[in-house]
Amino acid sequence: MTIMEKLDAKLGNAVSAGADEIFASDVLEGLSKARKELPCRWFYDTRGSELFEEITSLPEYYPTRTEAQILTDSVAELSRLAGPRVAMIEYGAGAAVKTRILLDALETPLYYAPVDISDAFLRGVAEGLAEDYPDIAMRPIVGNFLSDLDIPVELQTAQRRLGFFPGSTIGNLSDAEITAFFTRARQQLGEDGMLVIGADLRKSPEILVPAYDDAAGVTAAFNKNLLVRINRELAADFDLERFQHKAVWNDVDSRIEMHLVSEVAQSVTLLGRRFDFVQGESIHTENSRKFTVPGLQALAQDCGWRALSVWEDPQKLFSLQMLG
Ligand code: TRP
Repeated sequence: MTIMEKLDAKLGNAVSAGADEIFASDVLEGLSKARKELPCRWFYDTRGSELFEEITSLPEYYPTRTEAQILTDSVAELSRLAGPRVAMIEYGAGAAVKTRILLDALETPLYYAPVDISDAFLRGVAEGLAEDYPDIAMRPIVGNFLSDLDIPVELQTAQRRLGFFPGSTIGNLSDAEITAFFTRARQQLGEDGMLVIGADLRKSPEILVPAYDDAAGVTAAFNKNLLVRINRELAADFDLERFQHKAVWNDVDSRIEMHLVSEVAQSVTLLGRRFDFVQGESIHTENSRKFTVPGLQALAQDCGWRALSVWEDPQKLFSLQMLG
């Protein structure tokens, strides 16, 4: 099964036992590869989400605050381009601060539709906003944004649909997933729809590496939490003291890679199966791709999007683009 099919299957199974089985098969499959890997979307259990929140305010982690600043500076222009009475669809919702900056500036937005695979999480997001935005109808959409989504028909009564994909989450997707995302978003947002997308930019590894390997060790804890989760949910016995967090800049593929490196030769048991590690062997847990503005535009253009506007911070650390 492809990742897309698995996620589709997961959606079909909604909040039932399906997710656990997919977690198990993802982990078994990833650890069975010649180069071991674990898919990054499993980072976000309760503890993982808390740790990620902590990452966003670390001094080394510039993306969150830089993107919020770019959005604050550009939101008036962005709102003019979007026009009145939009339905805003946020992909991988939960960027509360940025969502509010946008909702505050848009002219009488009609709907806010956050998309996430967690039903419970979505309800929290919608409830948190409903109080402060009584005139915006909350329409959470449970689903995976790389596949078909059930977009409520009433959203089409809005003047236009505006997609919002912040946080450089696009950088955590593979090439095929990026193409799938842009293609689906075009279908979901419509021919006159618009898409605001935040993407981290290529820069010196001296800035990049510490952003994914902070002095306080929060990113290391975030990365290792995946092993904690596997130990708990898949009856595994990873020794957390014997795996080390590592962030590496891969210049050829223009990405930060996160790894968990086995400090010694060891074996780990998981769901009754044994996995051997040689000393120094790594589990690749995540990619965070760094873009150039024209590079990302080319990817979007291939899927029917064209660039309307680009905003960057003065140091050109991060970019916000509006596509139409
Ligand atoms: N998409 C963001 C990024 O790549 C957030 C993120 C995902 C992240 N996984 C992470 C940040 C792990 C730090 C560590 O930067």
